[in-house]
Formats: sequence, structure tokens, C-alpha cells
Amino acid sequence: MTRKILVTSALPYANGPIHIGHMVEYIQTDIWVRLQKMRGNECYYVCADDAHGTPIMLRARQEGITPKELISRVATEHQADFADFNVGFDNYYSTHSEENHYFATLIYQRLLDAGHIHSKTITQAYDPKEQMFLPDRFIRGECPKCGAADQYGDNCEKCGATYAPTDLKNAVSAVSGVTPVEKDSEHLFFKLGDFEEMLQQWIHAGHLDPTVANKLDEWFDAGLQDWDISRDAPYFGFEIPGHPGKYFYVWLDAPIGYMASFENLCDRTPTLDFDDYWNRESSAELYHFIGKDIMNFHGLFWPATLAGAGFRMPTALFIHGFLTVDGHKMSKSRGTFIKARTYLQHLNPEYLRYYFAAKLGSGVDDIDLNLEDFAQRVNSDLVGKFVNIASRCAGFINKRFEGKLADKLHDETLFQEFVAAGDAIADHFEAREYSRAVREIMALADKANQYVDEMQPWVVAKQEGKDDELQQICSMGINLFRLLAIYLKPVLPTTIEAAESFLQIRPLSWDDHKAPLLEHEISKYKPLMTRVDSKQVEAMVEDSKQDLSSIEKAPAAAGPLANDPVSDLISFDEFAKIDLRIAKIVEAAHVEGADKLLQLTLDIGGETRNVFAGIKSAYAPEDLQGKLTVMVANLAPRKMRFGISEGMVLAAGPGGEDLFILTPDEGAQPGMRVK
Ligand code: MSP
Ligand code: ZN
Repeated sequence: MTRKILVTSALPYANGPIHIGHMVEYIQTDIWVRLQKMRGNECYYVCADDAHGTPIMLRARQEGITPKELISRVATEHQADFADFNVGFDNYYSTHSEENHYFATLIYQRLLDAGHIHSKTITQAYDPKEQMFLPDRFIRGECPKCGAADQYGDNCEKCGATYAPTDLKNAVSAVSGVTPVEKDSEHLFFKLGDFEEMLQQWIHAGHLDPTVANKLDEWFDAGLQDWDISRDAPYFGFEIPGHPGKYFYVWLDAPIGYMASFENLCDRTPTLDFDDYWNRESSAELYHFIGKDIMNFHGLFWPATLAGAGFRMPTALFIHGFLTVDGHKMSKSRGTFIKARTYLQHLNPEYLRYYFAAKLGSGVDDIDLNLEDFAQRVNSDLVGKFVNIASRCAGFINKRFEGKLADKLHDETLFQEFVAAGDAIADHFEAREYSRAVREIMALADKANQYVDEMQPWVVAKQEGKDDELQQICSMGINLFRLLAIYLKPVLPTTIEAAESFLQIRPLSWDDHKAPLLEHEISKYKPLMTRVDSKQVEAMVEDSKQDLSSIEKAPAAAGPLANDPVSDLISFDEFAKIDLRIAKIVEAAHVEGADKLLQLTLDIGGETRNVFAGIKSAYAPEDLQGKLTVMVANLAPRKMRFGISEGMVLAAGPGGEDLFILTPDEGAQPGMRVK
């Protein structure tokens, strides 16, 4: 019986580029969907950009464009990235769409009618200058626990403490820099507690991996809290009916975007019926692939929303872990924060699809992209084993038999062994145990190569009267290659498409593995894949470092606007040219006729320098005498109105009284080099 299956991946935010961390999810989902389609199931894969929320509104403002302009540009970029990684969505849409507006409003109305919505006045941080409420991530200040400066409103990156934004010391708005005030506002809440019993059951009814279920259980320990689903203007989203100036919180309408994207697909596909997949009695399967960071939205709020509004709930959530690169969190400075586009400029997307498949299991464990292992693995498995089989056998078939395969198999038993492995491989893919599927496929590839090694077609080719045998051996090799191609097709769609054209056959489906290809003409062999060159990998990492300036200047996907964005990058060599020295201020004096400058005499270990420093607004000469500070010692001398300045001292701050010279820790000696 063919199954009806609807599959989704999480909707990427529309304010940042797709990176290879995201690609874990879209590749994982795409492999699964391709397997379903190859096996003849009716399977649809929909996704969309997640286009609403404060970060997107502010990002657009910062770029001087409207949110609509921003999301339409990003939509184009995202879709190009996905297409170039061969992610085959049946529909890619946007949460800022008519359909999503319709469903968000409908669902809200149904929840309201059923008594699951109530309103409550809450107090929140408010930016009086920008006249907007501030999400936690847009408030910065000193950590209440360890005192670290410039921390987010919800947690400290230094000591890991979590707290309320009101606990931050010297808090400022990351949007305008002013001190936030507290302000009341009426918010709408979804009564999640109404669904407590239902959710507790659902979580343990086989829809989730047990580790995920256990994690979600923690939410019940404290009792399910009401969920705040409204935000005040200014906000980029859908206005709530009956509440002018209030908008649906982005996480309310984001998962509804799955429905909207599917509805949009139904509109274009006469045979497809929305209700078949979404009504309460639907017998279709519904799967959401997501990362572990968003499991509460999909495991609690979303099923409750669906149940409360009279829709079906998901069949299962498929939750994966996070990508690390070379054992670390992706890092902009290491060059391992690699954008999908940067990867594509250097490397074949099928390499990464294969590598992720070789690493992915069904659990929530993080997966590591080790760049050295990546090159080795692709080269040895795909080029050295898989593609090699075809290239070893095709030559003789082409040259000696006009491209024609033999009319019988040389080793029926071996062929049947390859056929029999198909079911287990399919089961591993189905269970999202891709690494096991890949391991078994590669074990078969080893066997196929072993077969060719033993049969030595290059020796047989020189023997008289052995034409039939030669043709049969090479045809056997090609047939083994063909079965491996079927098994790898969900992972390597483009490479296998090229293999299909080499074999001159129609697109392979899973069941094609049951019968051999005999008495069939194939075309000339062209290399199906080239080796990864480690230089390409290095160049990609280099490029990703260079991307840093543009990423840092723009606010991060979920992050606030930096007060003082990092400016253009310099190379390490440029940095190394700066000669920073510990300097002792042996003398400090006012400068006649200068209202900003102090004249400093600096000792840098036996050598003294005369420096004019613009720090008079913050320091009196007597404050400085005898202090250690840091100076740039190799700055070209500059002639000023009052004399020659031979360097600069380092200071931080906006200016005026708020100016701070750098002072080294105890033990530093004049003349020491700062590195
Ligand atoms: N917009 C929300 C999802 C809404 S779904 C109704 C969101 N967007 S996201 O762009 O931040 O992430 C999209 C998906 O990519 C999420 O499932 C997330 O877990 C996944 N990943 C983002 N970074 C990742 C890694 N570094 N590694 C693996 N997956 C990652 O969340
Ligand atoms: Zn801290």
C-alpha cells in the first residue's frame, strides 16, 4: 500500500544566510523524502522562510529597506542555496503569505472560541527612544552574577548564569543604547495548561525519541505555564483580530507556515487535498524534522495548538543534534562558520550530503564535520570505491562490445547477495540510521571491487577466445555498480542522475534493484565524481574568515544590533606590525592653550617618548604620574601645534569623562612588548 506522507523541515529565519549547520537538517530531510519517493510512496516535502519577528524588522531597518524587501531578497538567496544543494522541496513558501494569515487567524479564532486564550497585563522592558518593547536578546548589560560587561538580557556568555533582563546591571537597549524603562502592556496568552494531560500522554505515545520525551517532561514538573502569543507594535507580523496594534508572536504563526506552504501546494496541484493531510481523522503521516533547540515549540506548543484548533497532530518529530566543525562550535574567527554559498563556491554539494549521511543517526547527538576526515572519506568511499567500479568495467564494454552488456550474469549468487541487502538498507534509511545504511553500502562496494580484482578483466582481455567471459565479468561489475547507485540515490541525486545517463536508463526507483540490466547498451564512461582537493577545503575556510567583516557588521540572526560594530578586518600580519609597549608615565603636564591634550613623558624601558594625548577631559596630570599604561610605540611621529608626538596611548570609551586609559596588571615592566 502506498503511504501518504507530508514532511517538513524547520523554517529558516529570513534575516540571515543558510550555513552548513542548517544544511544538516535540510540534507537529512531531503534524503528521507527521496527514499520515500523512490519507494513509490506519495510524499510531499514543504518548507518556507520564517519571515516575522523583531530581529527581521530591525535588520531591515538597519539596512534601510522595508521588511518585505528584506524577506524577498533573502527568500531568493535561501532558495538558491537549497536548490544548489539538491534539496528537492515540493514547495518553498513564506510565513508572510495570505495562506498563513488565513490559517493563523483561523486557529487563533478557534482557540479563542474554545476558551483557550486569555489576556493579562505584564511589565516589560521598553526602549523609550525607539518606543518599542525589547525582547530579552535586545537588552545588554553587566551580568548580575559575575559582572561581565555587555551580556544579553537572558543569559551570560561568560559564566552561563540565566536571569531576567531586569536583573542586568547598567542595562541598555541594544537598539538605541538608551536605558530601558519598565512599561505595562496587555498581552494575549494561550492556556497551555488546558492540554496538560493530553500532552503528557502524547509525548510518551511513540511520537518522540525517548530522550526527547524525557527532556520535555521537565516542562511538566513546574506545571505548564501560559504561553504569551502577542507582541506590541512596532512588530513585523500579522495583526491580531480585535486587537489593533497587537501582533501574533512569530512562534505562533511559524509552524502554521507548514500548513500554509502545503495549502499553497494544494492550490497548484488539483489531485492534492489539504484536508486529507490535516483534518483530525487524517490517515496521512505528518513528520517534522527539526533541531534539538526548538523541540519545546514542536513538542508542546504546536501539538496543543493543533489539538485546540481541531487539526490532526504530527505522527512524529524527527529531532537531530547540532553540527560542530573540527570538534568545536562553528566559529567565525576560525573560518568554520561556513555559509552554504561559500561551501558551494569551493566544493561539490554531494560531498557534504554524503559526509552528513555517513555521520547521521536517528538520535539527538551532535555531529562533527572534521575537515580532514571529510576529504579522506569522500575520496576513499565515493571516488575510490563506488565510482571506481564503473570506471574499471566500462572501458572494455565500450571498446570491445560496442557498449553492449552481456545477456547473463557472471555470478548470480553475488548479484542476489546485493539484491538481498536492499531491504535492510532501505530500513536503515527509513529509521534515519543513515550511517548504518552507508556502512552497508560501502561494504558492498568493497565486495564489488574485490570481485573485479579477482576476475582480473584486464588479464582476461588479453586471452584468446575469452570474449564472452570478459563481457560477462564487466557486465557483472556494471550491474553491481547499478545496485549501489540505487542505494546511494537518496544521498547523491546528481551523481546518480549522471550514472543513469551513463547507463542509458530511466530514473532508478528502489524496486529496480531486484532485476539485473542485461543485453543493454550503455554509453561511454565519463568520470562521475572527482576527488576532494584539500586546497579547496582550505580556500573555503579562508573565505569564511573573510566573510567575518560582513557578518559582524550586520547583526547576527537572532542577536541584537551591536552598539559599536566591528569595523573592517585587518590581516594578522597587519596586526603584528603594531608595536604595543608597556609604558610608564614618568611625567604628565597641561599643555598651554590646548583644552583636550595632556603632555606625557613615557618611559618604555630606557627610552623616553613625548606624547600628546587627548585625555584631559577624564584625567588630571597628577592622576597619571607614575602609572603604567599601553602605548603604540611604532607610530610615525606627528608634528602638532605644540610639538612632536612620538606615539599614542590606548584608551577606551565614548569620550568626555568616560574615557579610560588601559593599565596593565601588576608585574608589567616598562618596555615589555604587548602581544
Ligand atoms: N525559524 C525557526 C524555526 C521555525 S519552525 C516552525 C528557526 N530557524 S533557524 O534558522 O534558526 O534554524 C532552522 C533549523 O536549522 C532549526 O531546526 C535548527 O535547529 C537548525 N540548525 C541551525 N543551526 C544548526 C546547527 N549548527 N546544526 C544543526 N542544525 C542547526 O529555528
Ligand atoms: Zn556572568
